[in-house]
Amino acid sequence: MSMNSFGHLFRVTTWGESHGPALGATVDGCPPGVPLTAEMIQVWLDKRKPGQNKYTTQRREADEVRILSGVFEGVTTGTPIQLMIENTDQRSKDYGDIVEKFRPGHADITYWTKYGIRDYRGGGRSSARETAARVAAGGVAREAIKMLAPDLKITGFMVQMGEHKADNRDMDQIDQNPFWVPDAEAAKTWADYLDGLRKSGSSVGAMIEVIAQNAPAGLGAPVYAKLDTDLSAAMMSINAVKGVEIGAGMQAAMLTGEANADEISMGPDGPVYSSNHAGGILGGISTGQDIVVRFAVKPTSSILTTRKTITKSGENTEIITKGRHDPCVGIRAVPVGEAMMACVILDHMLLHRGQIGSNQGKIG
Ligand SMILES: Cc1cc2nc3c(=O)[nH]c(=O)nc-3n(C[C@H](O)[C@H](O)[C@H](O)COP(=O)(O)O)c2cc1C
Repeated sequence: MSMNSFGHLFRVTTWGESHGPALGATVDGCPPGVPLTAEMIQVWLDKRKPGQNKYTTQRREADEVRILSGVFEGVTTGTPIQLMIENTDQRSKDYGDIVEKFRPGHADITYWTKYGIRDYRGGGRSSARETAARVAAGGVAREAIKMLAPDLKITGFMVQMGEHKADNRDMDQIDQNPFWVPDAEAAKTWADYLDGLRKSGSSVGAMIEVIAQNAPAGLGAPVYAKLDTDLSAAMMSINAVKGVEIGAGMQAAMLTGEANADEISMGPDGPVYSSNHAGGILGGISTGQDIVVRFAVKPTSSILTTRKTITKSGENTEIITKGRHDPCVGIRAVPVGEAMMACVILDHMLLHRGQIGSNQGKIG
């Protein structure tokens, strides 16, 4: 059984737990000749790493990646790339209270029910530490994409925190605030809002959008390897994600046929679409428009408010979860969503190259 891997040709396997000595990813199927250094991957890990400001968990991890194999003289060799990140700031005693109790909203109860063994330290494998390995693999995917489609750009950002939506899409703002939100006003409102929640020991959910611009037309295949199927599965596999949509997504249910179908006309360089309700994917295959995915992340379940729960032996009790937690998981989920987009897109580029090559349909 292989339940820690994803991808068809660009295949990523992640390993490791929150309080083990290290975690990482084995990346198999990366084309040879891709320039790759640890520094190139580190850029993306630095975006996800904890403790960067008061709005994320205060766990202090350098999240320094080491490449153990698959790279020689600065380029990939085509053999498995082993990436390792050491865990350096574990505090297992913070989790003493949850040895016997299940945190409501967390994976404690299901891990126990399924395996009868639970690594309670930091949530073990259910900890978001695992997402560091995905971000590292995404860094590899981004470098390979650069070789195959140099203009392709992947950008993630937050569009909603709790009930507060971002009204603007000023993409230059994304890197200017701790929430990766493309709206300077929203960043200010969210800062006050989250500060209040954090001090009260509560948490809040969020919505994240990830866009791939300049992706080639033709990625994805009917019917079980649709690009939207693989993207949805990839995003849904991120911890705390409870909803995924492509393009108009759930809103499409409220539209008429005329409002929803993006009209097509011929432009100087090929087809031009009047809108993008399809999120850049029709029939599971990319159209060449922006590929647009949104995902909803639930509020952090480890909170300082007293909650009812049960013990392993079945007694009713109460729990307050101490330790260092993210008040809004959505913030650090942004680079994770970008990494999953990069891995899925590269995977489909390789599949397309393998099956179709340059023998593609032409318009005009
Ligand atoms: C980037 C990121 C950070 C997270 N930080 C925390 C945290 O500090 N505390 C916590 O209880 N859960 C956190 N989570 C969520 C848990 O990992 C997740 O809720 C748990 O694995 C249960 O899985 P589920 O929510 O998908 O059902 C985080 C998730 C992500 C993606």
